[in-house]
Order: sequence, then structure tokens, then C-alpha cells
Amino acid sequence: MIGTGYVGLVTGTCLAEVGNDVLCLDVDARKIAILNDGGVPIHEPGLLEMIRRNVDAGRLRFTTDVDAAVAHGETQFIAVGTPPDEDGSADMQYVIAAARAIGRRMTAWKVVVDKSTVPVGTADRVRAAIADELRARGVELPFAVVSNPEFLKEGAAVDDFMKPDRVVIGADDERAVEAMRAVYSPFMRSHERLLVMDVRSAELTKYAANAMLATRISFMNELANLADDLGADIEQVRQGIGSDPRIGWHFLYPGAGYGGSCFPKDVKALQHTATQLGRPLRILGAVEEVNDLQKLRLVEKIVGRLGADLAGRRFALWGLAFKPNTDDMREAPSLAVIEALAARGATVAAYDPVAMDEARRVLGSVARVTFALSPMGALDGADALVVVTEWKEFRSPDFDAIRGALKERLVFDGRNLYDPARVRAAGLEYFAIGRR
Ligand SMILES: NC(=O)c1ccc[n+]([C@@H]2O[C@H](COP(=O)([O-])OP(=O)(O)OC[C@H]3O[C@@H](n4cnc5c(N)ncnc54)[C@H](O)[C@@H]3O)[C@@H](O)[C@H]2O)c1
Repeated sequence: MIGTGYVGLVTGTCLAEVGNDVLCLDVDARKIAILNDGGVPIHEPGLLEMIRRNVDAGRLRFTTDVDAAVAHGETQFIAVGTPPDEDGSADMQYVIAAARAIGRRMTAWKVVVDKSTVPVGTADRVRAAIADELRARGVELPFAVVSNPEFLKEGAAVDDFMKPDRVVIGADDERAVEAMRAVYSPFMRSHERLLVMDVRSAELTKYAANAMLATRISFMNELANLADDLGADIEQVRQGIGSDPRIGWHFLYPGAGYGGSCFPKDVKALQHTATQLGRPLRILGAVEEVNDLQKLRLVEKIVGRLGADLAGRRFALWGLAFKPNTDDMREAPSLAVIEALAARGATVAAYDPVAMDEARRVLGSVARVTFALSPMGALDGADALVVVTEWKEFRSPDFDAIRGALKERLVFDGRNLYDPARVRAAGLEYFAIGRR
């Protein structure tokens, strides 16, 4: 497993869980040291226990030794990062470096599996990079390159991997398809969920999935803002449309915008590909634009109530991670909210159940933030409460205690967590997204 981040670590651990012998490689020596010391560098429910179990059984190991990693397995997964480049395209340097590392060392047939989210055509580039290295060594060895995009959700990654909705395999090599069937058959004992397709379709499938999900979120966010103007309640509307099976319940929650390491960068990367081909995706352009504005929707509401000058104001902020059950802060809406409040002179006392260390690292440059040890601790001396991430522990707070702690008795809820009538009955002024 080349790359031991959210995807590589979960994939490697779950593959070990079903009996495989897995060696996880990373260039980040700090991560490997944490893992070799019995820790886990990320927060993912159920992962630590599964890692320990498989390390103890001798099926899961971690290394920075590239030679050992390439020698270890016939199947080499590339699960390295593909962050956005300055122009919005996916930065492929880590994927290509991993491919070259394999080509430089392999001595027998390999299946090289692109698990990272990569633009259409990447399998060809990976194949060319490996072939190039083999040529430089003057050796001829057969190998196959397969696209196997990952659909796991952070916060439920172990469950998603162990019980996948589907496994997409893009391949044009029968032997490689058989190897992939063998890898994934333990995960589909109840029924077959392996979809084999051509490589380019598999690569596009991953972007299509994330683009569709991001579209649903931006669509609902725009409707919620309209509901605010119309005096309608988006929560009622959500239930009215979600009950239609053609629409369904998932990803219809309006809020403070989507973030994370996937949607923002994948929407950008797909748009970049489309634009280069002279076919920019108009819907996706709007999805991104709506999301950028939505991240500041809460601040808009705060300014609407308290005025543009927030100097001397103090806000309690609940939820830093881009979504619950993860410590991932990449592109988190909380960052946009904190930066906008700080830019207007306010201070922020933030609380998150698991992401505060990561937030400290990311927010190092923003001086106006402090971190509280508890949700109620964040309210000390605050004018208003701002809820940005829908952690379970925020769902049923003591509203009387909140009223008692806040100077201005204002709650700005970016995730529509509360019943407006209940919050108001407690003597608080309540602002949510698209709610009456
Ligand atoms: N995080 C998710 O929920 C998720 C879900 C589906 C797909 N993906 C995709 O999977 C890929 C990985 O995402 P992630 O969130 O796991 O990233 P990550 O940043 O958490 O992990 C990537 C790891 O790869 C390592 N790495 C980089 N170059 C390397 C090399 N040459 N050899 C060995 N290790 C190397 C990095 O040090 C890092 O630890 C991305 O393309 C992402 O879009 C992510």
C-alpha cells in the first residue's frame, strides 16, 4: 500500500483484516513512527482496534523502506494524495513518483492499482512512467495498471470499506481483473458488487460521484437561501422531496457548505479537465460558486444581526472538522467562518471533540482563536454561539445553560440541528439556514 493516509491506511488495514499480508509504505516518517509505536495518525472510528488486531496477528506492517514495499506484494496500491494544483487540476506528482518507484525496483509481474482519485488518462501516465523506468534499467517485465477508485467516507471509512456499495475496477487485462476479484471477493460474500469497466470510465466514475453529491448540497443550499427570503422552511421542503424515491434522502441537508479533502478538489479537477477540452461544465461551475458563498452564509447572518463591525465581539464556535467523526480540517467551512469573523475584529473560542490539534496546526496564523476544553467552556464570555459541524454531542444541548452563558443570547446554527421553537422557547434568538 503506497501512501498511508486516510485511504491507504484504511484500505491496508481492511485488507489485512480479511487475511492478507499487507505492508504500508509512506514517505512521511512521522506517520510511520506513530503507527509503529502503536498509535494512529488520524481519527477514524474503529480503525485503531483493527490496526492493533492485525499488527498483533503479523499481517499488517508499516515502513518507509520503498525497496521492501515494492518487493512485498504482487499487488501495489497507489493511495497517495492528489491535491489541487494552482490551476485547479489534480497535482499528479505523488502518483507518478509512486509509479516510478515501482518501475525502478520491480523484478516480477505486478498489478499496479490506482486507488487515488485521478484524472481520466492517469492509468496511461502511470503505465508510461513504469515502462520508462523499466526501459532505463534495460529490463522487460509484464505488468498491468488498474483503476480502482475509492468511495469510502471519512468518519465511516472502515464500515464503508468492509461493506462496499460497489467496487469499481477499470481494467483491460484479464489477469489483472482476476487479481482484483481475488482481493475483493472477501468483501462481497452476500452478493457480487464488483463492477468491471474500461479504465477511463472507472476514472470518470469517481469524479462523477463526487460531483453529483456536491451538486445536491449546493442545490439545497441555494434553495435554503431562497426559503429564507420566502419565509418557507427548508426542513419541511427537504422532507417533502426526500420522501420521493426518485430523489431520496441522502445529501439534501442545507448548511454551511461542503468541505473536506475530496469534494472541493474533485469538483475543481473535473472542471479543469472539462475546460481543457473546451467543454466547461456549467452546472459544476455553479456548484462551486454557490459553495464558496455558502461557507460565509453564517457570517452574513451574524453581520445582519450584529452589524459589520465585530470588534470586541466574542463567538463560541462548535465544530471545526469539515464533518463529524473525523479530525480532517482540509477545506473545512469552520476555517472560512473563523477567518471572516477574525477579519472583522471578533475573537473566537472554538471547541471540537477531536479536531482541535489539527485545527491548531492549520490555524496557527490566526491569532484571534482560542480552544476550549468543552462545548460549554467555549461559551464563557461569548456574545453568541455559532454551530458549524454537526457532531452528535451538539444535538441536544442545555439551552437554558446556553442562554445563561451568552451575553447576546444568539445562536447561529449552520447545520439546522435544532427545533427553532424549542430554542426560542428557551429565550434564545435562533438563526439557521433556510428555517422559519
Ligand atoms: N480521504 C477520503 O475520504 C478519500 C476518499 C476517496 C478517495 N480519496 C482519494 O485518495 C487519495 C488519498 O487521499 P487521502 O485522504 O488518503 O490522502 P492523505 O493526504 O491522507 O494521504 C496520502 C499519503 O500519501 C503519502 N505519500 C505521498 N507520496 C508518497 C510516495 N511517493 N510514497 C509513499 N507515500 C506517499 C503522504 O505522505 C500521505 O501520508 C486522494 O487522491 C483522494 O482524493 C480520498
